[in-house]
Amino acid sequence: MDTNAKLYQDMTKILVKREDIQKAVAQLGREITRDYQGRDLVMVCILKGASVFFSDLIREVDLPVTLDFMALSSYRNSTKSSGVVNLEKDLSVSIKGRDVLIVEDIVDSGNTLFYLGKYLMGRGASSIRIATLLDKPDRRNPEHNLTVDYHCFKIPDEFVVGYGLDFAEKYRNLPDIGVCLLYTSDAATGGWRWNGRRMLALKKSRGMFGYVAVLLLMVLTISMLFTNGFGSNTRDRRITYPQLLTMIEEGQVRSVAIR
Ligand code: IMP
Ligand code: MG
Repeated sequence: MDTNAKLYQDMTKILVKREDIQKAVAQLGREITRDYQGRDLVMVCILKGASVFFSDLIREVDLPVTLDFMALSSYRNSTKSSGVVNLEKDLSVSIKGRDVLIVEDIVDSGNTLFYLGKYLMGRGASSIRIATLLDKPDRRNPEHNLTVDYHCFKIPDEFVVGYGLDFAEKYRNLPDIGVCLLYTSDAATGGWRWNGRRMLALKKSRGMFGYVAVLLLMVLTISMLFTNGFGSNTRDRRITYPQLLTMIEEGQVRSVAIR
């Protein structure tokens, strides 16, 4: 806990505590053990986000199971996930005629798993199911008609980190799952931007703390506008998380500072 104290400062709230994660993962392990009796199960971890979940889950599955790993990245444009999924690391075992269980950290739009499912079907798997730690159904692309077979928690449309999930490769080692406050430092203009969705998440958090924090952030933003914005070509605008990712990928943002 102490070693992560710095990381906890960036959380607007803890959404799922480690004790609850542990219970839910143990329960899911029992369900998988029951459902895959007598089958030839291959559990596939989607790197890097699912790695922590995967390593806990496999130890709750009481079956002779084969483990494998895949790494994917999805390209996003400024407004939405483009739906194009890039395969960075493929399977190392054959899945022909075997039962595949994809283990994912979070299902959001569903693009990643839609394309992965099609790809794995083409490799001759006899069945493909999805087990995800978190299910964020609000942002699902209805065209995919994706079935999430197992999930530990359904969560609202908020950007979460911890227990394997990251923001800009940070927070994966946080033992709990938290809603994260995000800032971007735009090196090109010297200005500061923040993610509008995160601001909204903060407003939604109940209690005095939320309102005081929002007030402080507003004062901070206004003071930064005066010190940085005027007299330069900084355009102060709210950006969404996918826009932020695009900016990072296109090299527009040279550094991301977590405050
Ligand atoms: P999808 O293709 O839109 O379903 O996106 C799935 C991937 O986006 C996940 O595997 C995560 O890597 C990432 N992602 C989506 N939402 C979050 C979040 O709230 N926190 C961290 N990563 C997320
Ligand atoms: Mg992922």
